[in-house]
Amino acid sequence: MRIYSRILGTGSYLPANRLTNADLAAQLAQQGVETSDDWIVERTGIRARHFAADQQGSSDLATEAARKALAAAGIGADDLDLIIVATSTPDMVFPSVATMVQHKLGTAGCPAFDVQAVCSGFIYALTIADSMIQSGSAKRALVIGSEVFSRILDFKDRTTCVLFGDGAGAVILEASDQPGILATDLHADGKHKDILCVPGHVNQGGILGDPVLKMDGQAVFKLAVGVLEETARASLAKANLTDADIDWLIPHQANIRIMQSTARKLKMSSDKVVVTVDQHGNTSAASIPLALDTAVRDGRIQRGQTLMLEGVGGGFTWGSVLLRY
Ligand code: UT7
Repeated sequence: MRIYSRILGTGSYLPANRLTNADLAAQLAQQGVETSDDWIVERTGIRARHFAADQQGSSDLATEAARKALAAAGIGADDLDLIIVATSTPDMVFPSVATMVQHKLGTAGCPAFDVQAVCSGFIYALTIADSMIQSGSAKRALVIGSEVFSRILDFKDRTTCVLFGDGAGAVILEASDQPGILATDLHADGKHKDILCVPGHVNQGGILGDPVLKMDGQAVFKLAVGVLEETARASLAKANLTDADIDWLIPHQANIRIMQSTARKLKMSSDKVVVTVDQHGNTSAASIPLALDTAVRDGRIQRGQTLMLEGVGGGFTWGSVLLRY
């Protein structure tokens, strides 16, 4: 009998400090950087984002999201036998955010590690957890996407600093004979590294290179629209389903125009797309589990429905997870 990974519970966390476009524009204006609510809304769909407090790291956001997911699943941290965190903004170079979350949850012993696939990180992490559950090496997994992108933004670059926010989202997966994750699809192509990257690194006690986000927005946009359709179709084909079978599309939340274009290509109406980019901005690896938790908690997503989760990000990396909720 096939073993499936089933979502037992979801959770998310947003830092208290919420900035509307007008708030951010006013702060940027003080540094001579010009932007506007109109431009940001029209080009991206973003209206607000949350920024972590100085003392909050990815592990703090991740732990809050994990606690809510554990509560929703009705299990304790000691019941977990796997913790994976997707992040590109870890608290430290090492150890991993996952081991910090494990400790903050008051448990120990199970494997815990980070996955770095930028905005596709949660899709990668979910796929790895699903493989470990299917192989029998894990029964209950905590999978988190957590980011503090505010730490790697260049607030003098208006083409990028208005786009991103901080947050975390988490799911608890459990081995089950009921579906479950139906199909997964992952890809990467390293030749695109320069169109979306943070080129700095720690070197001999200092920083070598520029430790802030650089993006060629239009190049990323074009690539994203193509691969998001391809990966959705690949997962559907693996599960012998068609686009008509998808109840909810939960894409990476980067730009409303990318999401609408993907929905059109999959012949889905826009009211079947879960959109949180307006309230959260682009939270990279956290964006998909944040959107998922939002739609679970507001009652849109119901048990038995078919969900298409898909992401694309730096590397380039991209992929999808098709599941029965
Ligand atoms: O998470 C990873 C995935 N990331 C993405 O998916 C991002 C994909 N790319 C995008 O979402 C869009 O390309 C952006 C939102 C980044 C940019 O939108 P765009 O429609 O491609 O705008 P653009 O770069 O062509 O810029 C248009 C104009 C430029 O002015 P000129 O040269 O036409 O005079 C920019 O300088 O808008 C200007 N501009 C701004 N104006 C006000 C750029 N940023 C801003 C800003 N406020 N924040």
